[in-house]
Amino acid sequence: MRVVSGIQPTGSLHLGNYLGAIKRWVRMQDEADCLFFLADLHAVTVYVEPAELAANVREMAAALIACGIDENRSVLFNHARVPAHPELAWILNCTARIGWLNRMTQFKEKSGKNREGASVGLFAYPVLQAADVLLYQATHVPVGDDQKQHVELIRDIALKFNADYDVDLFTVPEPHIAETAARIMSLRDGYAKMSKSDPSDMSRINLSDDGDSIALKIRKAKTDAEPLPESFDELAYRPEAANLVTIYAALADRTPQSVVEEFAGRGFGAFKPALAEILVETMRPIKQRLDELRSDPGELDQILERGAERAAKLARPTLDSAYKAIGLRRLA
Ligand code: TYM
Repeated sequence: MRVVSGIQPTGSLHLGNYLGAIKRWVRMQDEADCLFFLADLHAVTVYVEPAELAANVREMAAALIACGIDENRSVLFNHARVPAHPELAWILNCTARIGWLNRMTQFKEKSGKNREGASVGLFAYPVLQAADVLLYQATHVPVGDDQKQHVELIRDIALKFNADYDVDLFTVPEPHIAETAARIMSLRDGYAKMSKSDPSDMSRINLSDDGDSIALKIRKAKTDAEPLPESFDELAYRPEAANLVTIYAALADRTPQSVVEEFAGRGFGAFKPALAEILVETMRPIKQRLDELRSDPGELDQILERGAERAAKLARPTLDSAYKAIGLRRLA
């Protein structure tokens, strides 16, 4: 079992990232061979101030380590330091079809009405994502629900490359999606996912938020006036309520059903303080560790440097084989 996954270093980590992906990454370190990376080459598909990008890479590395990603149990790196990623991405650009990329809903969302003005990189980045995963022969890719379509694309690219060149080179990976927290929604709108790009900071819990702001955001989170029902299924048309119950369940490692049973018949006046408490308790040690790590940027750079060296070694045989399969050779 080989686990590979990544996150874009744009701003800070939010609760959706944590519950949808990172919390499971941390656990998977005990079960599998793991590589986790900061997808900084993805971050430049839209313009980012260079100094800000460099700071975001460090900040996100610190956030992952604070959550429990441990360089002694995983390879942690940023993919700009491992040129095998864009090299393999170019080869895979020649395997992926324009029609496949045209179907990617994230590109449609991110380019919006300005499709012609979007960068080529924004369109093609799911192919770089395929390189990220296929380079390491990943079997499992732990992601939130919004990345499922990209992982399915990776499978199509791997199968087509293997078939076109009549090789058994790429392992076809499985998406690994959380049962409870696959899609954490905004605190202001139960129909929009929690996201770094939402202009309202009140819509998300950031890992760097202190206890008071977490409590405030939960107090102000949109809900309704109804009490909680006996069964989680009854929340199907109350997305904000369902989201808060889901967050509680994911934090407590319980099912949403057991949470509604505990609070059945009570309103959000009773539920929100309990949610704020478990959230603050979970985030406190992570935030504390994050503050310590931030004070030593040199150490963070060294961790990423060591991770990149290990990743580059692991990537090399697959990259060489991909060149060989298409009839070319790289410089040794
Ligand atoms: P990114 O940076 O948008 O998100 C990182 C991880 O967090 C998950 N996630 C969520 N899960 C639940 N609820 C939410 N509201 C929520 N928001 C984000 C994402 O699904 C993801 O797992 N393209 C990727 C990064 C990437 C990658 C890869 C992932 C680059 N190469 C290779 C896997 C494998 C991205 O932009 O994720």
